Amino acid sequence: MAITLALAKGRILEEAVPLLERAGIRPAEDPESSRKLILGTNREGLRLILVRAADVPTYVQYGAADLGVAGLDLLAEHGGEGLYQPLDLGIARCRLCVAVSEGFDYGAAVKQGARLRVATKYIGTAREHFAAKGVHVDLIHLYGSMELAPLVGLADAIVDLVDTGNTLRANKLRVVEEIMPVSSRLIVNPASLKLKRSEVAPLIALLGAARRG
Ligand code: ATP
Ligand code: PRP
Repeated sequence: MAITLALAKGRILEEAVPLLERAGIRPAEDPESSRKLILGTNREGLRLILVRAADVPTYVQYGAADLGVAGLDLLAEHGGEGLYQPLDLGIARCRLCVAVSEGFDYGAAVKQGARLRVATKYIGTAREHFAAKGVHVDLIHLYGSMELAPLVGLADAIVDLVDTGNTLRANKLRVVEEIMPVSSRLIVNPASLKLKRSEVAPLIALLGAARRG
């Protein structure tokens, strides 16, 4: 039976292609430059589909892809419903953090019980994080460049990914809380695992052996 693996262009693909290569899997053409959304591979019966990073869990949840590679940040936001998550692939590592302008006294604002405006694309995760801490927030949904929001008065704080910290430093922001460490996970449709076990299980084992860390 044919097996479909969902990947996202950009960072995930950059790090997933070498991992696939270590597992002996090569796309039929360069996925980064190809305009095709479905690519064959050298492994018989395995094809790749290329979707937006935030859409990977949805494709796998509905069985349009049997497997996928998704960042824990986006999985947490999706909720993980209907997804089996057998492997931490250890790629695209970063941290989901709360950050503020260098001059903003976050500790004092929280202590005073101030209502904070927080810009993020991780609305669900941010809501849970601040609710658990008892911090009152108004969440503002952005789709990118979150680091700009505190600089132009749109928000007091942001919830965003931090890796090297270069983006925060370049914009005079600093981390005040870490919400979770992030890496990419292999996600699997549970029905695919049951019905296509003889194809899916060896693939999981192969990717498990090829991961680093
Ligand atoms: P799109 O390009 O579709 O808007 P995106 O910006 O979320 O999506 P990427 O920036 O490629 O796409 O991020 C995909 C995933 O890679 C994220 O969900 C996260 O898990 C991880 N990631 C993002 N930024 C970094 C980073 N700076 N360092 C390490 N991993 C990261
Ligand atoms: C991600 C993230 C941060 C940045 C953090 O953006 O949204 O802005 O990386 O990485 P750093 O700590 O190493 O600077 P990305 O570069 O993927 O751009 P994007 O806005 O297209 O997601």
